[in-house]
Amino acid sequence: MNIRNDFPILQRSSRGKPLVYLDNGATTQKPQSVIGAIENYYRSHNANVHRAAHELAEEATALLEACRSKAKTFINATQREEIIFTRGTTEGINLVAQVISSRIKPGQDIVISQLEHHSNIVPWQLLAQRTGANIKAIDITEAGDLDLNDAANVITDNTAVLAISHISNGLGSVNPITGLIAQAKQVGALTLIDGAQAVLHADIDVQTLGCDFYVFSAHKMFAPTGIGILYGRLELLNSLPPWQGGGEMIDQVSIDTSTYQQAPFRFEAGTPNIAGCVGLGAAFDYLDNLPMQTLIEQEERLVAKALSGLRQIPGLQIIGEPENRASVISFLLEGSHPNDVGTLLDQQGIAVRSGHHCNMPLMTRLGIPGTVRASFSLYNNDDDVTALLNGVEKAATFL
Ligand SMILES: Cc1ncc(COP(=O)(O)O)c(C=O)c1O
Repeated sequence: MNIRNDFPILQRSSRGKPLVYLDNGATTQKPQSVIGAIENYYRSHNANVHRAAHELAEEATALLEACRSKAKTFINATQREEIIFTRGTTEGINLVAQVISSRIKPGQDIVISQLEHHSNIVPWQLLAQRTGANIKAIDITEAGDLDLNDAANVITDNTAVLAISHISNGLGSVNPITGLIAQAKQVGALTLIDGAQAVLHADIDVQTLGCDFYVFSAHKMFAPTGIGILYGRLELLNSLPPWQGGGEMIDQVSIDTSTYQQAPFRFEAGTPNIAGCVGLGAAFDYLDNLPMQTLIEQEERLVAKALSGLRQIPGLQIIGEPENRASVISFLLEGSHPNDVGTLLDQQGIAVRSGHHCNMPLMTRLGIPGTVRASFSLYNNDDDVTALLNGVEKAATFL
């Protein structure tokens, strides 16, 4: 199954060579249907939403609210009102860390893990500084999985929040979040799942997971940058204070005081990223029409092929051998800095990521400066794997 022709950018070259795009963990490319939907919105429907009585405003509002409904279906939320538009994962986590402040008592624990992206660390540090809470991190095993024995020790009656990633962006580990959420709920903690890497690589069902919050970014699932989703349990959302004040989030305003809308509008002050929502809506439609099972199996085959090929290269070390891996492979070449490997691959038209991947605590834990990371998506093919393997071999001889 070949969907490459849906993605115009994949036809271009890079550094004079055919583009081999293996930086999907950072962001995915966009299909023509998403690009076209955004253009069509600006050409034919552009207006502000929820406000005016005219036809264009009605159309723009319908497009935005249709995206909310599609997001609800995508993650199996119970109600549309549980879907809040944000700028992305980072903003979603910051929003939650702000609005739950008054629920956190000094000395309580906020539990994260060693695998987290900085955006699932720093907002909690800020919350801890404001409230006098402590940050605790679940350790990892040698293989790069969450250490569940450690989790059992770290999640205690003193835990106020558990915030962990569904899939690690650094190592590709798929975390056993269902069990961890259950443990956290048993001790009465709030639970947030960072789903940034999971949107194209895992089934997301927030009702089955039972988490309080689930966040993700649209740009990692073929949609534009600057738009994302925060899911929250409706009853919980409506019991929390707003985080930003402004238009749209209010019920009544006087000079001295205001009352607020219910969720989701309570958390959506100001004009939203309407074109982003239109693009995200088109991405949901695009995914709906793909044979996902076939494409996921194809991606898994490519990741396995790349892994076994990389393992044959002398001096190459795969970083992280998680039991359950999504489409991320991190590696190092003996005696070489990851950035040098990344540069040599770039010269061959191969786009990978090198560095700490916003995982500084993970890299410190592993005792390495960073890794080279190849991350796959549904449009990658065997030629991409061959190019990666040849490229790394060439880099290895050069370095
Ligand atoms: C696991 C994880 N969490 C959070 C983020 C932050 O996402 P964004 O920059 O879209 O807010 C990323 C981005 O790479 C990620 O991989």
